[in-house]
Amino acid sequence: MAENILEISGLQGGYGEIQVLWGVDLAVEAGEMVCLIGSNGAGKTTLLKTISGLVPATSGSIVTDAGNLAGKSPEEVLRAGVAHVPEGRRLFRTMSVRDNLMMGAYLRPQNDPQVKRDLERVMTMFPRLAERARQDAGTLSGGEQQMCAIGRGIMSDPKLLMIDELSLGLAPQAVDMLGEALVDINRGGVAILLIEQDVMTALDLAHRAYILDRGRITLSGPSSEIANAPAVREAYIGVT
Ligand SMILES: Nc1ncnc2c1ncn2[C@@H]1O[C@H](COP(=O)(O)OP(=O)(O)OP(=O)(O)O)[C@@H](O)[C@H]1O
Ligand SMILES: [Mg+2]
Repeated sequence: MAENILEISGLQGGYGEIQVLWGVDLAVEAGEMVCLIGSNGAGKTTLLKTISGLVPATSGSIVTDAGNLAGKSPEEVLRAGVAHVPEGRRLFRTMSVRDNLMMGAYLRPQNDPQVKRDLERVMTMFPRLAERARQDAGTLSGGEQQMCAIGRGIMSDPKLLMIDELSLGLAPQAVDMLGEALVDINRGGVAILLIEQDVMTALDLAHRAYILDRGRITLSGPSSEIANAPAVREAYIGVT
């Protein structure tokens, strides 16, 4: 059996009185790219935030090879090898692109030669970032900001990279380019958990998919099966 990089069982959580997650079960295996599909307000962002320790889990477990992450701080989760590229990218706009990327490596020893190699790898993966390394991140286009946010995630040397809304507000060429980058990152050995509102793009990139509906997983399977499931085609792809 393949090794699970992430195994979530019975996860519940939300914001104080407002419960959003109602017992989520989800796994990401080593080498996999998995996408999470669901309509607005289904709880996709909340799930990523709960994994990251930004929103408290009230019940259930989030297991990686570093143990159960439920109840851990965002820093401990990052240290356990789980990086989160948040919705809206959240760069430091008045800091340079290079410094934003290096922020991703803040928990690693700064004199670690591997950090320098990873920075070079990100710059090679995204030549636009290399050209703009000294520019303030706030001057980047939306697509370049997403490259920078993904690059920052890579700089933590994660085992699992979680991305909330890859394509939101971006031009189609930028989305294609970022999708190819994710495939490369994934083939390089980093598992990926992807939230992507364009369901066809998500299913095209990911090996497997989960459907989240009002805080519950209602369907999961290989992307090809999910793409052909009548309920998915009606509700999320807009064809009947
Ligand atoms: N900070 C918050 N405080 C209270 N409720 C919140 C908060 N953030 C989100 N919610 C609620 O939690 C539910 C799930 O929201 P969430 O953002 O996780 O959904 P989503 O699936 O990511 O949606 P979208 O596709 O719009 O990004 C929604 O009902 C939302 O109103
Ligand atoms: Mg969201």
